[in-house]
Amino acid sequence: MSSAMGLLIRGASQVVQVSNKKEKVKLKGNMADLAILHASATEGVSIAVDKNGLVAAVGMDSEVARQFPGTKWDTIIDAKGQSVVPGLVDGHTHPVWAGDRVHEFSMKLAGATYMEVHQAGGGINFTVTKTREASEEELLELLVPRLKRMVSSGTTLVECKSGYGLDVETELKMLRVLEKARSFVPITVSSTFCGAHSVPRGLTAEEATRCVVEEQLPALKRARESGELQVDSIDVFCEHNVFDVNQTRRILEAGRKDGLLLNFHAEELHPLKSAEMGASLGAEAMSHLEEISEEGIAAMAKAGSVGVLLPTTAYILRLTPPPARAMIEAGVPVALGTDFNPNAFCLSMPLVMHLACVTMKMSLNEALTASTLHAAHSLRKAHMHGSIEPGKVADLVIVDAPRWEHLVYQFGGTDHVISCVIKNGKLSHSRK
Ligand code: NIG
Ligand code: FE
Repeated sequence: MSSAMGLLIRGASQVVQVSNKKEKVKLKGNMADLAILHASATEGVSIAVDKNGLVAAVGMDSEVARQFPGTKWDTIIDAKGQSVVPGLVDGHTHPVWAGDRVHEFSMKLAGATYMEVHQAGGGINFTVTKTREASEEELLELLVPRLKRMVSSGTTLVECKSGYGLDVETELKMLRVLEKARSFVPITVSSTFCGAHSVPRGLTAEEATRCVVEEQLPALKRARESGELQVDSIDVFCEHNVFDVNQTRRILEAGRKDGLLLNFHAEELHPLKSAEMGASLGAEAMSHLEEISEEGIAAMAKAGSVGVLLPTTAYILRLTPPPARAMIEAGVPVALGTDFNPNAFCLSMPLVMHLACVTMKMSLNEALTASTLHAAHSLRKAHMHGSIEPGKVADLVIVDAPRWEHLVYQFGGTDHVISCVIKNGKLSHSRK
């Protein structure tokens, strides 16, 4: 047994592993059946982390101590009275942009719909103008504090999209900014190319589709092949008056040919049968789904596509929330994301979990599975992320309460309730 190890957390009241059998998804009733270790009357729960930042053991204090006799630990955290959950995974964000849209918030509160603002030249295209004008350095300066705020709210893995460029130059600029941010913030970034986020001014949807397929994707392919960019997924905003189902399919198929995962905006404002189309392509994930039909739900369950639900969108736009219960009951792996963007300025997964429970009728346990294992699976990273199990990355959140549910119950209270966040076995955020 190695005598030098990284981190030992001991004495915890609860360690919520989420899964302890290397599952990638927990479907239906299993989604709420969390693997949790509880302190006994005489001892707490420990997590041992090796020098590579991987979990080496999880168990009662005495059991773990027995496995590592005479070990020298780099760090020991006494978590008495506290609970530990896996690092949170944010399955959907748009974090690279310049210029806020606070002025549109008051328009929407006064009754303007998302599409009315969009068609009046606001919305995504407003942000596109500001983002095209900004330099790479300016965008990085804006992005880094946003990612740091996510870390302080417990996020350790985040999906980040481009999509405010809509041309080769700006889309690649945004993806380069995401690439650079990786070395400034202790968070794992899974980046997504979203050149089809909106139809740029001056082009038809058909012309924009050709621009994505014939210009943007080939340029992205070159940048990935040269090692300049690491990009995992492709996204399209499939919506009435944006990209229709056929255009979306063509873009996704072209992305698939280049080896990208399919993870796109489906059934948000109008039911278009885009979930059925995504399922037919074996899409890894689809987001939003406020307007999904029963057939769409069945098709997603059959295809194993993750449904990434975004409660902030329905909340802020006063839409009917997506049918989370029906999706869970049908066997769709449901995940959550903040959808952080200039329309929905939310960086906090605990707040999203709270909204999911109250507005989408998910249970606390389901919300945690959705914000850890399932969100990791939507990015095809559940083999290393999303649960506290030996061999997986030691990404952890220590909650300053003997029951983990305080993380969600104390909504808007993460500054107080999270005592620290650990990334790869190292402290990445601490309250004090
Ligand atoms: O997921 N619906 C499309 N995309 C974003 C909004 C982006 C924006 O308004 O800037 C979303 O809600
Ligand atoms: Fe989005």
